[in-house]
Amino acid sequence: MSSAPGSGSGTPFPPGFDPAAESAEKTLCFRGFWAWFVLILLIVVFVSAIMWLLRKFIQGPIYRKTNRIDGKVVIVTGCNTGIGKETALELAKRGARVYMACRDPGRCEAARLEIMKKSQNQQLFNRTLDLGSLQSVRNFVERFKAEETRLDLLINNAGVMACPRSLTADGFEQQLGVNHLGHFLLTNLLLDRLKQSAPSRIVVVSSAAHLLGRINRDDLMSEKKYSKFLGAYSQSKLANILFTRKLATMLKDTGVTVNCCHPGVVRTELNRHFSGPAWMKSALEVLSIYLIKTPKAGAQTTLKLALDPSMEGSTGGYYSDCIRWPLVPWARSTDTADWLWRESEKLVGLPPSSPTNESPANNGTSNGNGSSGPGAMQSVDTVVVNRS
Ligand SMILES: NC(=O)c1ccc[n+]([C@@H]2O[C@H](COP(=O)([O-])OP(=O)(O)OC[C@H]3O[C@@H](n4cnc5c(N)ncnc54)[C@H](OP(=O)(O)O)[C@@H]3O)[C@@H](O)[C@H]2O)c1
Repeated sequence: MSSAPGSGSGTPFPPGFDPAAESAEKTLCFRGFWAWFVLILLIVVFVSAIMWLLRKFIQGPIYRKTNRIDGKVVIVTGCNTGIGKETALELAKRGARVYMACRDPGRCEAARLEIMKKSQNQQLFNRTLDLGSLQSVRNFVERFKAEETRLDLLINNAGVMACPRSLTADGFEQQLGVNHLGHFLLTNLLLDRLKQSAPSRIVVVSSAAHLLGRINRDDLMSEKKYSKFLGAYSQSKLANILFTRKLATMLKDTGVTVNCCHPGVVRTELNRHFSGPAWMKSALEVLSIYLIKTPKAGAQTTLKLALDPSMEGSTGGYYSDCIRWPLVPWARSTDTADWLWRESEKLVGLPPSSPTNESPANNGTSNGNGSSGPGAMQSVDTVVVNRS
């Protein structure tokens, strides 16, 4: 006859020890394999949650209002890829007639077909615009004006970053030429249409890189010294902001607003001129999948400035993550903005704007009806013909 566990001297267990209870306790405490499994699972869940929150934070806010812009005429520059393509897609989904102003017709067509399929909007037009050629800008505007009598929204999105030093067709340093001067001429030539269509909007895609930039009055074209990112790119993005602010004062009381933005750090083709070692490029690519905004997220501030009904009448602002930000002193210098405006007029061959517009303090007094100021500068035909 066997004795109860732990009750007698015939058992291998000390008195009071119950092996069955010990075994049950072991199971409950998840010792061994299961303990490790649960611990690792908890860590994975915790880290995933943190990463999900971080990623959401990095992607920034989304423009959530669902307002449509059916039939509104829109131009988006550089929209065959990146932020511009996402912007064009969203505007097309909301019913706009989108003029895709791109330098490569083949790439533009591929993007147009994709956007048409995704948005179920047939009102998308492939138009050639090379911002590195003043003639191309004039040709684009001429054709556009022959096709459309109105323009509700102009989005100056195209850009080039940190390329090796090269010149545009007109001999301008590439980044200043494309990012600022090409858009400067384009906007000025379209101002009459924007005024006729008021309330209308201009959105300029700048960059936080402007913080590092200065307008180099002695060497605007970086002829003496070329620094591709800190010098030329940053200068061109600062020029975008000074242009926005000067234009906002000149367009006071016209019903045309102009705002600029920093889209965030976005995973696009903008780094195509990156010249570091291949392994670094690959490492950055992998990191960027997680740590950098998607093009869709990068388009959200542009979309807010373009679409938000509550932005009606707001002008001259700099936005990032859908919030208006104050500017550093060199980005709000009216003296530099005036100088850059005059210089840009000379470089692109526009007549000087009215003296009443020279000082922001006097702006808006004479150009409300489009009879003077930048709106009077357009010099292309305005005959409307059938669109092909
Ligand atoms: N990505 C970022 O992290 C970031 C940050 C701050 C600001 N931004 C600004 O966001 C804007 C959009 O850039 P993204 O990141 O979307 O870059 P992206 O993917 O390289 O797109 C740039 C677009 O601009 C076009 N473009 C370049 N040169 C042109 C020219 N001479 N004429 C007409 N179009 C031209 C490109 O056309 P091709 O494809 O034919 O070259 C492309 O469609 C730029 O203004 C950029 O400075 C971007």
